[in-house]
Order: sequence, then C-alpha cells, then structure tokens
Amino acid sequence: MPIDLARARAETRACADLVHLNHAGASLMPAPVADALVDWLREEEMTGGYETARRHDGRLENFYDASAKLLNCHRDEIAYVENATRAWDMAFYALDLRPGDRILTAECEYGSNMIAYLHRARRDGCEVAVVPSDQHGQLDVAALEAMIDARTRLISISHIPTGGGLVNPAEAVGAVARKYAIPYLLDACQSVGQMPVDVEKIGCDFLSATGRKYLRGPRGTGLLYVKHRWIAEMDIDPPLLDQHAATLVSETEYRMRGDARRFENWECYFAGKAALGTAIDYALGFGMDAIHQRVTLLADGLRARLAEIPGVTITDQGVDRCGIVTFTKAGEKPVEIRDRCIAKGINISASSGSGSRVGFDRRGLDAVVRASVHYVNDDGDIDRFVEEIRRGE
Ligand SMILES: Cc1ncc(COP(=O)(O)O)c(C=O)c1O
Repeated sequence: MPIDLARARAETRACADLVHLNHAGASLMPAPVADALVDWLREEEMTGGYETARRHDGRLENFYDASAKLLNCHRDEIAYVENATRAWDMAFYALDLRPGDRILTAECEYGSNMIAYLHRARRDGCEVAVVPSDQHGQLDVAALEAMIDARTRLISISHIPTGGGLVNPAEAVGAVARKYAIPYLLDACQSVGQMPVDVEKIGCDFLSATGRKYLRGPRGTGLLYVKHRWIAEMDIDPPLLDQHAATLVSETEYRMRGDARRFENWECYFAGKAALGTAIDYALGFGMDAIHQRVTLLADGLRARLAEIPGVTITDQGVDRCGIVTFTKAGEKPVEIRDRCIAKGINISASSGSGSRVGFDRRGLDAVVRASVHYVNDDGDIDRFVEEIRRGE
C-alpha cells in the first residue's frame, strides 16, 4: 500500500509551514509520537517518575516488541541505549581485541567509529584497515574478502554514511563475514527507518540505530541489536555493568542478564523509550517497503532536478541510493547555502569534517550540502527547495 501522504502530513504538525529536509539530522516527530512523549513527561511531573513507569510498564516493554518486529529479531536481542554512538560503543568495546588483531572498515565510515578504532589501536594494539571502495563508491566486497586474513577479528561498517546518499552492500558484506566466521558490526544509524533492515538477511552480529533520525522518534534515544548467540553461547562481556545489566548475588559474585539488556543501564530516558516504541509502531503502520519506495522516489527526483541547475554537482555515490541527497554548488559554500535555506524556512544541513573524514579526504571533498528527504515530504517541499537553490544568493 502506498503511503497515505495526506494523513502523514496532517499528523506532522510542522508540515503546515516548514520545509524539513533534515531527516538525516533529526526528523520531525509525528504528532502521536510527540504526544506520547509529552504526556509521559506530564504524568511524571504530576504523579512521579517511578510511578509513571510502573503504571505504563507495557508501553516500555512495547519498545522491545516494536524493535524486534522492525529488525526481524527476538525482543531479547534488543537493548535500549541513549543514542546510536553509545549503542555501537557498547558492542564495539565489548569485543576482545588484542595486539595485532585487525578491524576492517569502509571508506565512508562514521567519524566517531573511526575514533573508537584508533582509540583501541592505541590502547589495545589492534589495527584498523580501510577497505577501498569500488568504481561506484560503495565498499568493494571483493576487496574486503581479499583483505581477510588470520588476524581479522571484526568487520565493522556504516550501512549509510552521514554525508552521502550511498547505501553500502550490507548483505553481501554479511555473506563474507559469515563465510569466514568473523563478527560483523553494522552502524545502521541512517538506514533504520528509511528502508527495510532485516538482521537475519544482513547476517550481522550487532547493529546500532538512533531514534531521532529516520525513525522519527525523540532525541536522546537509540537501540542496539545483539545476536542471541553472543549472549547464550559466548556470554559477551559489556564494557560497563550496573545492577540492571547484572544482579549482585553475593558479596563476591554477580550474574549478567541473559538477554541484550545487559548492554543497558538502569536509569534512562523512560519517556523517550516509550515514545520510540510508538515511533517504530508508527513507521510499521505505513510499512517499511512503502516508506523505502517513497523515499527513493523523492530522493531520485530531487537529485535529477538539482543536477539540472548550473554549477550544481551531485556528490552521492553508490549503486543503491537513499534519502540523503548531497551536492556542491560553485561559488557558494555549503554552510552558506544551509544558512540561507534555513532563513527561508527550509531545513537542510551541511556535512563536513570528522563525521565523513576518511571518505571525504580520499575523494578530495571538503564539505557538501545535505538535503535528506522522508516519506512525509511532498512535491511542494521539493519545489521550494529546488527553487531556492536555483535562485542562488
Ligand atoms: C552513520 C552514522 N552513524 C552514527 C551516527 C551517530 O548517531 P547518534 O548521534 O545517535 O549517536 C550518525 C549521526 O549522524 C551517523 O550518521
């Protein structure tokens, strides 16, 4: 079923007078999600935080069911974490990496992840190697396979980079990881919510995602998927434990939880957890295939129209492209374009620096304009933005 655009827009209050093309930064919460969040906070104010949580335990638990449905996994494989970076960190820093062990990653790897690899290289003596991209700009799967050796202990990539429309071949990477029995960590921060993401199909061991971007949840929310066998068979040791993640059984012993919640901590953003569950249900209500189709249609259309504007160069790579549309325009800096658009009520962003360092450096790119569409955008949004870029300063 195609997206009911009229309903989607009516339930996104800001659509009335804002053109929001920054869903890869933070999307707009749909009204039912914003209401769930605000109502929870109001109830905490009026009746107490612990009491609100006890009263609505079912809504907190719904977060796990909704996430499991979204990612095609079991609810026990999901942990609620405050953002994608920390979710990713909890998995990455749990892995036993020793001197000489190698991590393989992609050129478009997210900056925080690169910092963590270098951190562990410095601290634990492991090494990080960047797999080259193919002629389309996506991770070269044959090169990845050729780089695997006895020292390879982890394959860790971003599904979609922060600064481009590329979609890395996550499933093909998963097939390689499985063939050589190498743990596979997938940063799905930009993909979850804009396309179907199925952990079984992809074959990853760990996956991190955030709430506020394409899932349209609240800020300060995220999740981690941990494949069951890492808990059941390997008893993986999170980098941090509290008395929610583990139980103190005596003065000298503790026992870790038997599910992915051993990666959580007890105190968290309860309102956000309930509302993220609502956001996931909301997305599933439209259907991930329908969302993906509409996002692709809008993004491809936007790229084609921008490409016709003199001086504009589309900088997106990859065979499969997503809702993130990036470009440069001769004579105007990306941040200037961003600021000019925001002043006209068109939210976009500019990507530069740390977040995309390796990929941008290798491509000789400094900064790009990033306009990220979602199913809730309409043709009028695209027209206004294209007109603004065409007009120039
Ligand atoms: C590819 C990618 N990974 C990770 C992150 C970090 O997500 P969070 O800010 O939720 O920690 C981002 C944020 O832009 C991202 O684009």
